Amino acid sequence: MRIIFATHNKNKMKEIRQILGDVTEDIVAKSELGIDFEPVETGKTFAENAELKASGIRSYMLAHGMLEDDDIIMSDDSGLCVNYMLGMPGIYSARYLGEDTSYDIKNARIIHELRFAEGEERAAHFACSICAVFADGRVFHTEGKFEGLIAKEPKGTNGFGYDPILYLPEYGKTSAELTAEEKNSMSHRGKALRAMRELLKRVIGEDREKGINSGAFSEKKEGSGLVRPFQTALIVSDSHRKDDNLKDVLKRLGMIDYLIHLGDSEGTEHMIKQYAGDGVECYFVQGNNDFFTELPREQVITLGKHKCFLTHGHYYGVGMDLTQLTEEARARGCDIAMFGHTHRPYLREINGVTCINPGSISYPRQSDRRPSYMVVDVSEEGELTYHQVYLKLH
Ligand code: IMP
Repeated sequence: MRIIFATHNKNKMKEIRQILGDVTEDIVAKSELGIDFEPVETGKTFAENAELKASGIRSYMLAHGMLEDDDIIMSDDSGLCVNYMLGMPGIYSARYLGEDTSYDIKNARIIHELRFAEGEERAAHFACSICAVFADGRVFHTEGKFEGLIAKEPKGTNGFGYDPILYLPEYGKTSAELTAEEKNSMSHRGKALRAMRELLKRVIGEDREKGINSGAFSEKKEGSGLVRPFQTALIVSDSHRKDDNLKDVLKRLGMIDYLIHLGDSEGTEHMIKQYAGDGVECYFVQGNNDFFTELPREQVITLGKHKCFLTHGHYYGVGMDLTQLTEEARARGCDIAMFGHTHRPYLREINGVTCINPGSISYPRQSDRRPSYMVVDVSEEGELTYHQVYLKLH
C-alpha cells in the first residue's frame, strides 16, 4: 500500500510520515512521483478543497497510468478561522490580502480588525481537513482544530503563517512560541492526521475481513462488494493508421468503459476495437480521410447526464471557428460537442456547449507537438470531469 500526499512541503511530509508510518512506510509526496499537476481549489470549505486536491491527483494518476490498485491519495487543507471576522480568513488564509503579502502585514491587519474585541470575543482556531481517496474512488475525511485567542500583539518566531497571533491561554504562549514537537502534538493537522490514521486502520481491517484488497478498482466484479463509482471514457482522434500511441495509452489506462474516436482512423477501427478489448463501448465517426468507410458521419451519445455530439468537424469549419459546430450540437439537444480534424487539443464552453477536441494521438500540430488524448470521468451522479493528457516526446 502506498500513500501519495498532495503537497510539496517537506516539513508537512516529515510530520505525515511520523504519524501515518504505522499504516504504511511507503509515503511519498506527489512531487516525488514527478506530478506537477495542481488541482484548482474552488471549494467553499476546507473539506471540499482537500477532496478536490486528492481526487484531482487520483484522476491525473489514473489518466497517466500511474495509479496502483492499493494506492491512497491524500491531501490537506487548512487555515485560520477568526470568530469575530465571521470565520475569515478561513479557506482564504493563504490568499488573504494577497498571496504575496507578508504574514507580518496579514497578522497586523487581523489584530487591527479585532481592536474592539475582548476576552472570548477574540476566539479563533486553526482548522485542518484531511481527505483520503482510495484508488477505487472511496473518499474519507477527517478534521482537526487547534483553538486559541487572537493575541493583542504577535509573538514568537517558530512555526509559520499565523502562528505568532494564535495565543494559547493554558500555555501562556502563542503557537509560534511552541517547539515543533509541542505544536505537532496538539495542532489541527496533527489531530486530523491521527484521526485519519485510526480511520484508515479500521477501513483497511474491515476490507481485509471482507477479502477486499483495499483500493483495488481492478476488482470490480459482481458480488465483490466493490463497485467503481464512476466510468471512464477515452477520447482520441486523428490516428491516421499510426496506432502505437493509442495502444500504449490503452495499456496504461487499464480499465475503461468507452472509447470515442473522432475520425481519421483510416480503416483501423476494427483493430482499435480489439486493442480496447471486450466490454468497452466504442464509437467512431468518419473523418475527411476515411474514404470508402461505413462509419457513421456523426453520432449523438449519452455520457452520464450529458448528451454529446460526436463529429470529425470538417463539415462545420472547425479550423476557423466553432459557431456552426455549437449551433448543430444545440439543435440536436447536446450540451457537449466532441470533434477532431485540427490536430490541436481544445476544451472550452462556447454558447452553452462544451467543445472538446482531444488533439491528435499520432500527428499533433499544436506548438509543443505532443500527441494528446482526453480522459473523461463520469461520476455516479452523471457529472463529467475532463483530463487533457499529453504524451511525452520520445
Ligand atoms: P495549507 O492548506 O496547509 O497550505 O494552509 C493554508 C494557509 O493556512 C497557510 O498558508 C497559512 O496561512 C494558514 N495555516 C495553516 N496551518 C497553519 C499553521 O499551523 N500555522 C500558521 N498558519 C497556518
